[in-house]
Formats: sequence, C-alpha cells, structure tokens
Amino acid sequence: MKFLRNAWYAAGWSGEVAPRSALRRTLLDETIALFRDEAGAVHAIADRCPHRFAPLSLGKVVGDALQCPYHGLRFDGSGQCVHNPHGNGTVPKAARVNAYPLVERHGAAWIWMGDPARADPASIPDFSLFDEDRNYVGRGYLRVAANYRFGTDNIMDLSHIAYVHGQSLGSDDMQRSESSSEQNGHTIWSRRRNYGEKLPPAVLGHYRSKPDALWDRSFDVRWDPPASLLLLVGGVPSGQSPEDKRPLPFAHLFTPETATTSHYWFAASYPKELGPKYEARAQEALAFLAGPFEREDLPMLQAQQCAVGDRDFWDLKPVMLAGDAAAVRARRLLDKLIEDERDALHVQPAFAVG
Ligand code: FES
Ligand SMILES: [Fe+2]
Repeated sequence: MKFLRNAWYAAGWSGEVAPRSALRRTLLDETIALFRDEAGAVHAIADRCPHRFAPLSLGKVVGDALQCPYHGLRFDGSGQCVHNPHGNGTVPKAARVNAYPLVERHGAAWIWMGDPARADPASIPDFSLFDEDRNYVGRGYLRVAANYRFGTDNIMDLSHIAYVHGQSLGSDDMQRSESSSEQNGHTIWSRRRNYGEKLPPAVLGHYRSKPDALWDRSFDVRWDPPASLLLLVGGVPSGQSPEDKRPLPFAHLFTPETATTSHYWFAASYPKELGPKYEARAQEALAFLAGPFEREDLPMLQAQQCAVGDRDFWDLKPVMLAGDAAAVRARRLLDKLIEDERDALHVQPAFAVG
C-alpha cells in the first residue's frame, strides 16, 4: 500500500503526549516514538534502537533525549545518539534513528513522513476553530480496523446518516439534500443543503426545536489531503438567513496506521466568547457524536474493509450515486498525489554521464 509521504498527518492530540514521557504510535506502517523534551516540544523518532532494536518508546525521557530501555543509549529529537553510557562513551557513527518533522498546532501533533526539506508548517490545514485559547474543545479518538479512505468517504457523503444513524442522528431528508462539490487547489469541499427539514428526535434538544418545526440545515465538509476533514454544520428555522447563526465545527482527522487500520481523531468546539457553560456543551457535543461514531460508523467502516479485503477500490468498479462527487474527487486527487510522488522517486537523469 502506497501512502502519500509529503503531507502533514495527525499523529495524535497534543494532550496525548504527556510531559517527559514517550508514546508509541504506528503511522503509515512505521512505528514511531513520540516524546516531549524538557522545554515541552514534541519530537517523533523511529521506535527502534539501532543497537539491538528495542522499542525506544518503552524507555524514559532524560533531559531532552529518549533513553533506550535496554542498554541506555540516548537519542535526541533529531534522532542522533547523544549519550553512550558504555566503554569510553564514544558514540558510534551509526547510532542514529530517523526523525520526522513534527508541529503542534490547533491542539494536534502533525507529523511529516516524507522529505523533511519539504515540510512547510504553513501547509498544515487550518483547524484554528479548535485552538484552545479561544475555544472550548471536546476531543475523542477511535481506532478503526479499516483503511483511512473509508473514513473520508464517510464524512464527505453524509447521506449515510439516514441509514447508518437511522436510530440516532438519522433524518430521511439527508438523502434528498442538494449536494455539490468544489475544488480549490488541493482542498475539496462537499456541500449539502436540507431545506424544510423535520429534525430527527435525537437532535431536537440541541436545536431547542419543537418536533414539527422545519429547519434549513447545511453540512459543509472541507477535505485536505491525505484525510483531514473539517465539518461545519449550520441550522436555522426555515426561511431565516443562514448568516444569522454561525455553524458548529467538527474536526475529523484520519491517519493510516496500516493499509487496513486507521487512527480517527475527532473534535467538537464552541467559541469561548459564548460563555463558560459552553465548556460543558463542547464535551456534551463530543459525547453525543462519539456514541454513533463508535456504535454505528465504526462497524460499517470495518465491515466495508472485510468486504473489500486487499482488493483495489477502483478495480471493484464502485457504483456512483448523487452525492458521491466530492468523495470521488478527493480519492482521485489523493491517487494522483501518490502517483506523482512515486514518479518523482523514479525519475532518471536524462543523460548518463561518463
Ligand atoms: S537496544 Fe538500545 S541500547 Fe541496546
Ligand atoms: Fe456517520
């Protein structure tokens, strides 16, 4: 399975990497040790000591370095061995491990697993709606036994709500929504509009709505490669201008663990300016969604993976329905980016010299 290498992937929520401790995480089929140095900066290095291959993540942080649990070599955030407690203390030349650029932003740790020289933090997608200085944020995580692209499909095509979430978030109107997609560079938007929708019972309280009231709702999903999605959910009583109410933001960040398993970080957020009671509302919004994600989406994604096995998605000739356009665009763009990366690796010099 080829993954896009030159891209920022979520490696976790910032809070998952505790001070002066290490965390083991498999990303893109590689096992990484994440650790915080004394100044609080997070580093990502390969989780295999070059001496006898012990997982460095089982070791402890000493100063700004991660100490191997087996014989005590220490590695700093650049992957360089900086301390050898044996013999005269000389550090062998080969005593180093791969290091990966890592940036903490918007409450997440973003890792770059491609060419470090191309790791530009400016290309991290904007999830500033989840910055905790200005927002109350609820954050969750699920491990999914399915390829990460099924996660993208799931969020880009919310028509599944009528079926997968029939008993929770479901509304028949979701499958009749007007849907459209648009592309801006490598960013793709999936837009869905429901007009005159009767809200499903489970969300009535959230909208403080009477059961028979009609609403106009919007679901705008922004996708950035490889699989970082921002969902903005808007809703106003039918006839009111959508500008009257700001949409609620949700983050959905998928990162491949392996070809057939994924990490899924999700978050809900409210601006602090709404008042302190929204701190609890952010947690409630997260809990409200985490249940359906875990009980309803997760089994579906995993069942899809079982049905597909290791076959190629396109070889199976998937049928296209109204509302698929954005998800298909995202898949095709990601395919192209991966292909371009592979071609760039195989470029041969035009002339042999000598
Ligand atoms: S395995 Fe790490 S120091 Fe020996
Ligand atoms: Fe869902």
